[in-house]
Amino acid sequence: MKYKFIKDGIFYAGMNDSGRLIFDELIPLDNGTSYNSYIVKGSEKTAVIDTMYPKFTKEYIDSFDENGITKVDYIIANHGEQDHSGSIPALLEKFPSALVVTNAVCAKNIQEMLLVPEDKIKIVANNEELSLGDKTLKFIISPGVHWPDTMFTYIKEDNIICTCDFLGAHYTFDDVFAVPSKELEKSAKKYFAEIMMPFSNVCRKYVKQLQDLKVDMILPSHGPIHKNPDYILNLYEDWAGEKGKNLVLLPYVSMYKSTEEMIDYLSEKLKEKGIPSIKYDMVDGNLGDLAMALVDGTTIVLGTSMVLAGPHPAAFNTVYLASVLRPKAKIASFIGSYGWGGNLFGKMAEMLAPLKLDVIEPIMVKGKAKADDYLKLDNMAEIIYSKHKELGLI
Ligand code: FEO
Repeated sequence: MKYKFIKDGIFYAGMNDSGRLIFDELIPLDNGTSYNSYIVKGSEKTAVIDTMYPKFTKEYIDSFDENGITKVDYIIANHGEQDHSGSIPALLEKFPSALVVTNAVCAKNIQEMLLVPEDKIKIVANNEELSLGDKTLKFIISPGVHWPDTMFTYIKEDNIICTCDFLGAHYTFDDVFAVPSKELEKSAKKYFAEIMMPFSNVCRKYVKQLQDLKVDMILPSHGPIHKNPDYILNLYEDWAGEKGKNLVLLPYVSMYKSTEEMIDYLSEKLKEKGIPSIKYDMVDGNLGDLAMALVDGTTIVLGTSMVLAGPHPAAFNTVYLASVLRPKAKIASFIGSYGWGGNLFGKMAEMLAPLKLDVIEPIMVKGKAKADDYLKLDNMAEIIYSKHKELGLI
């Protein structure tokens, strides 16, 4: 593997994992992912910023010989999760005199998760600097994007920042520099939805910090490098913003189409009022698409059939995901159909309670919707319209 040139003394030593189909065993990947590692060669010392996913450790370690790197002085661990820290033990074996440089929280993580000996770790404080000779690394401790142990490494003389998971994308590439495209934007948005959205308020803080810093390049630990930082910072400004769009999400599961017919009817009524909606099949749908829609949706109306006196299990899955991803949705309701009875919405409403949503009266029907149920759906569409108008979305 030949390293890719980024700037004098700075190289990309990462790898594409184009065969990876799912991340965290949760979100399907459309474009695989990359695990980015960077080499920074100063006039006196050499540092490696983040390492490699364990599956590729051998190839990664061999790459140092292939690229003529005979000495590593510092291994910078921006984050302890093993897709970036997993090859630290092997790298320490290859370069026994190297020190792992990280913050106190990450130091504990890599000691416990990777058994890195304490005496091999140099702990740095926020804004501390480390000289490599003609290059200086400055560490900006940045907890919460997305673990409490994260930090950014700023290469001062080059005005380049390595942001680890923050501003990344699950995306593979040949050219290491980002070429803006719909596909890249979609991958970055799905990645944001799953990994960063629960920490949107923290994201806003760091977006502002990086905007103020006016960096020349952003080097994340997944996905391509941003030579135009505004591209990804502007996207994050939108995605992590507090206000949703004039959009209703309609996740549904329907055993005999009764629920789906009501979802379709509501979608049509919303459309007549100028409110777009996204219908999402909770059984066959791609969870990543739902997560991505949650970045923008202001209202969620979930439709479910009754299964054994309660909601369909797929509905619980979606409600759980929505509750942990902490989307910017403000309004919610439920639609459902039952055969003989039960409690369709109670437990789901409880699960969503931490989101403090404004809940519109749910609609539950026995079997097919009748004329008065359609009137209730008309009313629900009207209420959603009024609330979106109050929020300034229409
Ligand atoms: Fe890409 Fe949090 O690791």
